[in-house]
Amino acid sequence: MTQPNINKNEISRIKTYVEGFDEVMQGGIPEGSVILLAGTSGSMKSSFAFSTMFYNTLLEGKTCLYISLEQSFWSLVNHAVNLDFDMSKINTVIVSDVSRVDEKIREVNSSKKGNLVVVDLGALRREVKDTKIGEQGDWINVIKNLIRKFKTQSKLDIFTLDSLSALYILSRFENPRAELFHIFESFREQKVTSFLISEMPLDKSRYSEYGVEDYLSDGIIYLERTEQYRKVIRSLQVIKMRATNCDLNMYTLEFSNSKFKALYGGQAPLV
Ligand SMILES: Nc1ncnc2c1ncn2[C@@H]1O[C@H](COP(=O)(O)OP(=O)(O)OP(=O)(O)O)[C@@H](O)[C@H]1O
Ligand SMILES: [Mg+2]
Repeated sequence: MTQPNINKNEISRIKTYVEGFDEVMQGGIPEGSVILLAGTSGSMKSSFAFSTMFYNTLLEGKTCLYISLEQSFWSLVNHAVNLDFDMSKINTVIVSDVSRVDEKIREVNSSKKGNLVVVDLGALRREVKDTKIGEQGDWINVIKNLIRKFKTQSKLDIFTLDSLSALYILSRFENPRAELFHIFESFREQKVTSFLISEMPLDKSRYSEYGVEDYLSDGIIYLERTEQYRKVIRSLQVIKMRATNCDLNMYTLEFSNSKFKALYGGQAPLV
């Protein structure tokens, strides 16, 4: 059997572009990992994923795919503009009709810059209604097909599903453990770095709905919004990251001038 010939410095990593956070993970998330981005409501999960995709598109020319099952394209763009992301700096491709995705693939293929492809929720809803594969699997099949199409006919580096929690509401799983196993495997097989956003229960008793997502994922990044006296503090922590020697400390997450920053008592922790 051939031995894998890989040196730890050769693992390619995707930067989050959160100041002070990539260093915590030996430079970033191992390429191709399936990451659970877990947090309570309003902890900036969507913004974190969006920011990572925005900077990878802008600074590294990567192609990213954002699928929101919670927000329409315009709601997402309004949120991004409110966070001061200059959308005019990147090539944004909106998929407003899934059956005509080939046109968008051609647009991505002809673009010389990076691309942020956003699939409009309304377009997904129409596609699911039109493809009667059987009520259960429709949403996940439409999502898988979109990823596969971009990956095979174009290029795709990062994918975000916002959110797994919404997917559970839309497609009732009969056997969640087995079905989730196959869903995670299919994401991993595509070799696209994936963020699966997971809305945590308010009591923070688990990172995901069924618990199995925790070990099926290659990494878990946890975002927290806590009230201390009358002040709200946001925090960020790596819970696990395969193939990475990471620092598991909890960082304060700040956001200003369209940039996230991870702070540890105002400075990097001493190790
Ligand atoms: N310019 C800004 N600076 C800092 N925070 C902001 C700014 N604009 C909006 N926010 C905050 O961002 C939060 C929402 O962020 P986001 O939608 O990313 O969170 P989320 O965890 O995805 O939320 P949800 O649970 O609704 O999906 C809101 O609480 C909002 O007040
Ligand atoms: Mg969100």
